[in-house]
Amino acid sequence: MKLIINLKTYKAGTNQNALKIAKAIEKTQEKTDTEIIISPQPTDIQKIAEETTVPIYAQHIDPIQYGSNTGHILPEAIKKAGATGTLINHSEKNLTLKQIAKANQRAKKLDLKTIICTNNVQTTAAASKLNPEYVAIEPPELIGGDISVTTADPEIIEKSVEKSETPVLCGAGVSSGEDVKKAIELGAKGILVASGVVKTKNPEKSIQKLLSKTQ
Ligand code: G3P
Repeated sequence: MKLIINLKTYKAGTNQNALKIAKAIEKTQEKTDTEIIISPQPTDIQKIAEETTVPIYAQHIDPIQYGSNTGHILPEAIKKAGATGTLINHSEKNLTLKQIAKANQRAKKLDLKTIICTNNVQTTAAASKLNPEYVAIEPPELIGGDISVTTADPEIIEKSVEKSETPVLCGAGVSSGEDVKKAIELGAKGILVASGVVKTKNPEKSIQKLLSKTQ
């Protein structure tokens, strides 16, 4: 199983706080078979890579080359900083299918793993044909909320699993061990989580709680 912890741009997941969460992941990783990946802001990748062994996926890349592209995220730059993969098309950073395909291809050329996020079954099916490491289904209306996708919309996970040609992750509102267990029962291979870890008082305990029913 995989657990991706997306720090987004939460204050509790920025700069030194990002490093703290990475260290909490590192400690928890010693006690679990689940691979835990952190997805920080680009400015925090290098520090986390230097000070921990936690695998790092960027939150986004732009399918651009070295050159004049002000404000874009260059895939080579996140790789050199220490990332080994990237999210693509998170619902908070949407791309067109064409851009998704381009970003996925750029990442793969650099041996960066890709998780293509989607918000419906149709995009899941299309994205899976690009052969990413995973597709991740996240209904946008449930992101950051109190109700887990596994309770509010289990069908979207089942249908994504059915239509996808690559393994599926799911996320949105996931905060308990039961939520994770249900996701696995529905066919997901892991979880993307943000607020259920980053916005809690004790991220280390929150990660352990998420893993408590699937170990
Ligand atoms: O990428 C994970 C994310 O969008 C889910 O957010 O806060 O509902 O766990 P959250």
